[in-house]
Amino acid sequence: MTLTPLDIIRLEPGAVVVLDQTLLPQARVERRCVSVADLVDAIRVLAIRGAPALGVAGAMGVALAAELAPLEPEAFRRAVTADAAIIAAARPTAVNLGVGVRHALAAAAGAWNDPVQARMVIGAAAQAFHMAEVRRCEAIGAHGASLFGSDVRICTICNAGALATGGYGTALGVVRAVNAAGRLAGVWVPETRPLLQGARLTAWELGEEGIPHRVVPDSAVAAAFAGGEIDGVVVGADRIAANGDTANKVGTYALAVIARHHGVPFYVAAPHTTIDPATATGRQIPIEERSRDELGPTVPAESPVWNPAFDVTPAALIDAIITDTGILRPPFDLRA
Ligand code: MRU
Repeated sequence: MTLTPLDIIRLEPGAVVVLDQTLLPQARVERRCVSVADLVDAIRVLAIRGAPALGVAGAMGVALAAELAPLEPEAFRRAVTADAAIIAAARPTAVNLGVGVRHALAAAAGAWNDPVQARMVIGAAAQAFHMAEVRRCEAIGAHGASLFGSDVRICTICNAGALATGGYGTALGVVRAVNAAGRLAGVWVPETRPLLQGARLTAWELGEEGIPHRVVPDSAVAAAFAGGEIDGVVVGADRIAANGDTANKVGTYALAVIARHHGVPFYVAAPHTTIDPATATGRQIPIEERSRDELGPTVPAESPVWNPAFDVTPAALIDAIITDTGILRPPFDLRA
């Protein structure tokens, strides 16, 4: 991979620096977020995106907020916690964003009366959280590879790769590990409309690594299954409810239905930071709805649209959840 974790997102003095994913693959441009508002904007426009990467952005955002906050202890605490709440609310579906924010805030416990010390511990915690997510993805890859035989053709959706995780990837981590073991025939990459995370980001990542892949319109995926071209599906997740219901990029549910119809295994790959024991089922997962502009200018102005960014795949359609600690099989009980 030509991208290191720090190329994707890093904490610098006075800034969270992200690789602007809205411009990939045409241009590799960094975006320096020098205020909490800058970072929230980068999150909302998807300059930094993907659940684990959002968690890292959340943690680093708290570190930035601490750096910018006044040094009087009470004012410091008030400013950092208020900014943390704003960052956590930037996008609603990926539970990792709040997890990262809370992880950074927890690091400051005991140091609130010493803002200089608190700044240091929050910054260190955010950077360590980033590296831990990368290691968790590597573990997911190793566990997930054990599910596949040889000469396999894997389908994924959206981008659950290095870009989405701050390094290595969840679903693409599994793909990488299968490929490294010499057992991958190729990857099917649905475009992932409307923002084309598959066609732009996953295809780019796979191309950079010389991993064989083929991009298809989302609407062609069912035909690829019908033709017997797909041996397994691995997708990422934005939030996994306690019963295993999984929110991921819109289109994932359709992929799971098609996979079940054709008897092809469907796997979710995610670190434990994506599991939300406090959300009982998929019905309680907040689903982000995005602007009609994303559907493009060809939609008549008077036509109403619905543009949900995610959908929920019921646990009953998931054959296994691949986590950093091992492979979970149904029935899923993720309450604790
Ligand atoms: O809207 P996005 O691009 O942030 O959506 C990303 C996804 O749905 C990913 O599949 C998910 O976050 C898992 S990333 C490892």
